[in-house]
Amino acid sequence: MNKKIEYKQYVVDSQLRYFKPHATKIEKSFAEEIYYSLNQNSKFINPKFFYDKKGSELFESICLVPEYYPTRTEISILKKLKHVLPSYLDENINLVELGSGASVKTRLILDIFTKLQPKTEYFPIDISEILTESSEQLLKDYDTLHITGIIDTYEGGLEFLKSYDDKKNLILFLGSSFGNFTPDDGKLFLEKIFFTMKSDDLFLIGLDLVKDKNILESAYDDSQGVTAKFNLNVLSRINDELDADFDINNFLHYSIYNENAQRIEMNLKSLVSQSVIIGKSNLSLNLDKGELIHTEYSHKYRVSQIKKLLSDVGFEFKNMWLDDEKHFSLTLVSKN
Ligand code: AVJ
Repeated sequence: MNKKIEYKQYVVDSQLRYFKPHATKIEKSFAEEIYYSLNQNSKFINPKFFYDKKGSELFESICLVPEYYPTRTEISILKKLKHVLPSYLDENINLVELGSGASVKTRLILDIFTKLQPKTEYFPIDISEILTESSEQLLKDYDTLHITGIIDTYEGGLEFLKSYDDKKNLILFLGSSFGNFTPDDGKLFLEKIFFTMKSDDLFLIGLDLVKDKNILESAYDDSQGVTAKFNLNVLSRINDELDADFDINNFLHYSIYNENAQRIEMNLKSLVSQSVIIGKSNLSLNLDKGELIHTEYSHKYRVSQIKKLLSDVGFEFKNMWLDDEKHFSLTLVSKN
């Protein structure tokens, strides 16, 4: 398989190894993608680039601010699954997670898995190096756990795991990370997951629900300014890794809820007319005063839309769980 060529394997010990694409592959595509996306009339930065070490830490902090309800709400739903999820599982099942991050929520699923079987194999896929630390933390608390981490994009990770073994998989995609995709890209991505899955694999997806605009806007513009720091950090990352000279003080975190499109739209607003050089992308960038660099969509869904979306891709609906306030959803589907 060509994954042997593209990935470097790091064996930490008998219970932990991870795979990472060769450094040149990542760095080249970062510089190229930034060249492309900041060279447009409507400038943007792909939200996957938020997650350098600092960005991942800031995201973990966002999860703790009072206004950001998704994390704690999803955790409250996951806790309720303890008694109902096992009926869908086998005694021999792998756990795969897209965007595992700090693997906090994963623990609630691992509690279930490790009770069910003598050995549990976990395959976290994350773009961030945080994966290695979170894996080591997990192994401290779960001694029957075996982890094979893939530090790569979702697509890379899914491709890597395709026909990895014959065991049934539960694929987790939590936190409404799916909300980053536009509807068209999201559908394509779900299709990719669908075709990666074996016939009795399961897919559990966490999606944020449409709700009051004020609740949404404060969740993405918290009073402590953590979300603002998270958003601005992507410019510091570009400065550090691509030899750029963004002056962070010349940008403002600007986030609004677009009711028609059912999404939070996060941007960095240029406060002055300015030019910025991005060395490794070979780009000299001119920004007008007030010009926006779009950094993230965070789509919100209605229950009916979630069911339709998943069934349009071909998934079979198994169950859906909401919190009492109907702020967040977890949906379990299978391939057949
Ligand atoms: C990690 C994509 C789910 O959209 O809510 C949080 C990222 N951005 N606050 C989200 C995020 C600003 C988050 N996801």
